[in-house]
Formats: sequence, C-alpha cells, structure tokens
Amino acid sequence: MNLADLNKVAQAMVQPGKGILAADESGGTIKKRFDAIKVESTEDNRRDYREMMFRAKDAMTKYISGVILYDETIWQKAKDGTPLVKLIEQAGAIPGIKVDEGTQALPGCPGELVTVGLDKLAERLKKYYEQGARFAKWRAVIDINAASGIPSMTAIRVNAHALARYAALCQAAQIVPIVEPEVLMDGDHDIDRCYDVTTRVLNKTFQELRVQRVALEGMVLKPNMAISGKKCAKQASVEEVAEKTVRMLKSCVPAAVPGIAFLSGGQSDEEATAHLDAMNRIGNLPWGLTFSYGRALQAAPQKAWSGKAENVGAGQQAFTHRAHMNSLASKGEWKADLEKKKAA
Ligand code: 13P
Repeated sequence: MNLADLNKVAQAMVQPGKGILAADESGGTIKKRFDAIKVESTEDNRRDYREMMFRAKDAMTKYISGVILYDETIWQKAKDGTPLVKLIEQAGAIPGIKVDEGTQALPGCPGELVTVGLDKLAERLKKYYEQGARFAKWRAVIDINAASGIPSMTAIRVNAHALARYAALCQAAQIVPIVEPEVLMDGDHDIDRCYDVTTRVLNKTFQELRVQRVALEGMVLKPNMAISGKKCAKQASVEEVAEKTVRMLKSCVPAAVPGIAFLSGGQSDEEATAHLDAMNRIGNLPWGLTFSYGRALQAAPQKAWSGKAENVGAGQQAFTHRAHMNSLASKGEWKADLEKKKAA
C-alpha cells in the first residue's frame, strides 16, 4: 500500500467546492427510481441516463470530484463507444465503485441486517482497479426502532467489523475506501436518539478500523447526519441538525481522516443542501465536509429527463444546478434565494 497516494486521492475526493455523485444504485433501486418516472429499467436506458449526467460538462468539471458506479456501469460504453469510465476521467473526476453486495438478515437479530460481499473481494478489487476505480464504497445499514429494541449491539458490531475488513482490503489494493455506516432516518425517533445511535455506530466503526489497521489518512467517511426520523412529530431545525451533527462528528471522527462526505438518506434536495451549508458555516473543522448524495442530486434530473432523448439538455441542467448548489454548500456559501432564482 502506498499511503501517500491513497491520501492524495482521498483529499481530491473532498476538496473544497466539490463532492461525490453517488450513481451506484443497484438493479432493484434504479428500477424503483425509473418506475417513478415511468421509464423501463433496461440496460440501454440505465446507460443513457448515466451517460447524460457524466456528459454534463459544467457539473462534472466544476462541482463533482468523483462518481460512485455500480458494477454494470463500470463496464459500460457510451452510445458512441467511449467507456463511461473515460467520460468521468475526461471531466477530471475520479471513478469509484460500490463493492458491497447488499444486505442479508442477521441471524439471531430479528429485523436487523448485515452487509455482505467480503468473499472474493480482493480479486474483485484488482479488476476494478484495472478498470480505473480509485475508490470504493461499502454501505452498512442500521435501523432505529424503539418498539423492537433495535439497533442491537450485535448488529452494530458485525457491521463495523465488515466495514473494517472491506476498508483494509481496499487499501491493500490501492483503492480508497468510503466507509459508510448509515443510520436510517425512516423511523419516528427524534434527533437526540439519532445522535446517540450514530455516536455508538461511529465509535464502534473507528474502533474496528484501528483493530484491522486501516490507515485513517487513506479513507473517506460517509455518515448520516444527526437528524429527526421522518415520522417524528418534532422535526429539528436546520441549525439544530448542523450544530448536533458537527458536535457528534467532532467527538467521534479522528482528525487524521481527510474528509467526510454525507449521504442524503431521504432528505429533500434543498434540505440536504441547507444542512451541509449550515455545517460548513460553523467552520473551524478538522476535516473537509462535503456531499456524496444519491437521491438529493438525482431526483431533479431524473424528473427532467423522464427517459426522453429530447430532455437530455433539461436533465443536465437540473443536475448541474443541484451540483452547483451543493458545491456552494460545501464551502458554506449557499443561499436559499439562489434556488428561487433558478425556479423563476
Ligand atoms: P442517498 O444520498 O440517496 O442516501 O444515496 C447515497 C448513497 O450512496 C447511499 O448508499
């Protein structure tokens, strides 16, 4: 492992003014997104949709540092035969790859999940590196449900263990691991419960990373924010989310980590932008704080495109706008009226 080179890639991923496009929806997830815009999920449609984003020149060159791809996409070619990976590289962005293989029920822990995909991962990483991937992603999923007493410490431990195993294998393959322990915001829990659970999850994750000798300088953390559950009657304000998330991360994430790139996790586009902006306005942080959004970057372009070739320009415009807004937020320079100007 060459740690200086891993660190250089990690720094580039979280550089000020840029963030990561999470375009790594699995087959099942992209079908759900396409169903919503009445587009059939065929290999060609998935290619056309992603090609549209990767060819959005302004967005890709100015605001996007890296793109997380799904296995299918990393091998695909654009309509004119150019590999999609090349389009990303030509824009000056870094190709990355989702390497987990989804979740399975965790035995003995009803309602809880463990992320799988470690078997043969070393071999797969080697092929992905040859194909151009310089970073990877593995997502662990932790649910909160007071009625069923979850999450259990068992689920937190096994997922942290798998994340660290994955991260160590990535670094050995000269690939920067994005370590993503996602605490879901689906429940009716309040922001303080999210804060407490996420604190436990992050602490256990960093403990495992140390045990398994992962070099913190050569990774990027992708956490959820401290945020109210979607079904909670009392929704925390933007300022409270920002203040509590920064406090939580400062207490859990060592300064050796180059950067933190948040998931959006079901927040609306503008909420995800406003939260990131408010955190960067607090300032004086030991790591870069940026975005690695899936839904919060893609909901608007998906709608604008709706599977029609004549809408490619509109889709690219919608994507560029969201990427621009999040770029400003990554520097604490976003303003709500910039959104209205666009809508006018
Ligand atoms: P969302 O921003 O839609 O949560 O997706 C990010 C991601 O990569 C989830 O694993």
